[in-house]
Amino acid sequence: MYLKTLHLRQFRNYCDQKVVFDAPKTILVGNNAQGKSNLLEAVELLSTLKSHRTARDRDLILDSNPSGQIDASLERQTGSIDLALTLRFQGRRALKLNGEPLRRHLDFLSVLNVVQFSCLDLDLVRGGPEGRRNWIDRLVIQLEPIYAHILQQYNQILRQRNALLKRSKEIRKGEFSENLDKMRSRDAQKPEPENREEFPIRNSQFPIPHSELALWDAQLATAGARVIRRRDRILERLIPLARNWHGSISGSTEVLEVKYTANVEVEQELRAKDNLEGVRQAFLDKIQQRAIAEQVQGTTLVGPHRDDISFTINSTPARQYGSQGQQRTLVLALKLAELQLIEEVVGEPPLLLLDDVLAELDLNRQNQLLETIEERFQTLITTTHLGAFDAQWLRQSQILSVEAGQIKQF
Ligand SMILES: Nc1ncnc2c1ncn2[C@@H]1O[C@H](COP(=O)(O)OP(=O)(O)OP(=O)(O)O)[C@@H](O)[C@H]1O
Ligand SMILES: [Mg+2]
Repeated sequence: MYLKTLHLRQFRNYCDQKVVFDAPKTILVGNNAQGKSNLLEAVELLSTLKSHRTARDRDLILDSNPSGQIDASLERQTGSIDLALTLRFQGRRALKLNGEPLRRHLDFLSVLNVVQFSCLDLDLVRGGPEGRRNWIDRLVIQLEPIYAHILQQYNQILRQRNALLKRSKEIRKGEFSENLDKMRSRDAQKPEPENREEFPIRNSQFPIPHSELALWDAQLATAGARVIRRRDRILERLIPLARNWHGSISGSTEVLEVKYTANVEVEQELRAKDNLEGVRQAFLDKIQQRAIAEQVQGTTLVGPHRDDISFTINSTPARQYGSQGQQRTLVLALKLAELQLIEEVVGEPPLLLLDDVLAELDLNRQNQLLETIEERFQTLITTTHLGAFDAQWLRQSQILSVEAGQIKQF
């Protein structure tokens, strides 16, 4: 797929800017805070309907105008597609595909595929599990847009179940202190120890009816099993690709292991059979085991919102012990695997967005990336200076300068 044009109006620091992409690689060069990442963010929004920098649409609109607009035309094997996204300071977004308004976000999500690689991705290895969950979720959504809906459903059930557990904890806490107060005032008058029996502290009981919680357990397990299964399936396909790339970048001196460490562990046999009911049952069993801890903590402790993905290099955990170079190799291998997997599944090469990351890679890794991308993957690259680039990159690229929300030929 190939992004031909992008038109930004009242978006971030762009007032009204059209860009025509006329080479497979575009380098956006400019000083800090000029709008380079903003442009990539617009492409990200068209692809995923999400920005990794903000969850609020009002942040995306130029100086609090009532609305902002991103339009693009895209060339796919099936023909040209026009995409339009209207963001509103207040109110809902509007989406259009080939000029036709779309009601379902799902229909928009499968049109433009991108792989992003920024400095933030280096945190994939170093950072906490949430970053890794978001990363795999973004990838699954690109490959199976219905997953956006599944994930939303799971999160909604999780929020409601958490609210119930929290309320129950607060009621118990309230009862506990109320009883304690009564006990203290009675104790002050009649300090005989047997008085305590009159005000039993019921903190071991669950004040919300069991049947109500069981209802949420069942829903959580059903939605959660779907999340686990889809993460598992995509990782199964991604991991061998990442291992291959990692071997080739490290000159076969290092062996990468990637493991989906699901909070609800499912036996290999069930996973291999893609047994959704089995996963659901394992989920419910674990909820039973953790019931008391959940009541004490007042929150849901079981489920894919506590999943992680672990990386080891030559049997050593990359997170704690990997050198910076090793961590970079790992992230680059993951990104190349993403490109390859999306191309395999979608049948067309996705776009690659490289935000300020190329200068972070040494020449060997830059070349590895260059060889993989060739002319096949349209790539948008941001940088503050062209000095870090291989001469070959520069010759093959369209170079645009970005200054205070204005884009010009370099
Ligand atoms: N909603 C908005 N309205 C107006 N300006 C905005 C808005 N959101 C961000 N900006 C401006 O955009 C600029 C940041 O743009 P961007 O993140 O694209 O910078 P950059 O060129 O990628 O810089 P760097 O090299 O530091 O990464 C800042 O000056 C910021 O004030
Ligand atoms: Mg930037």
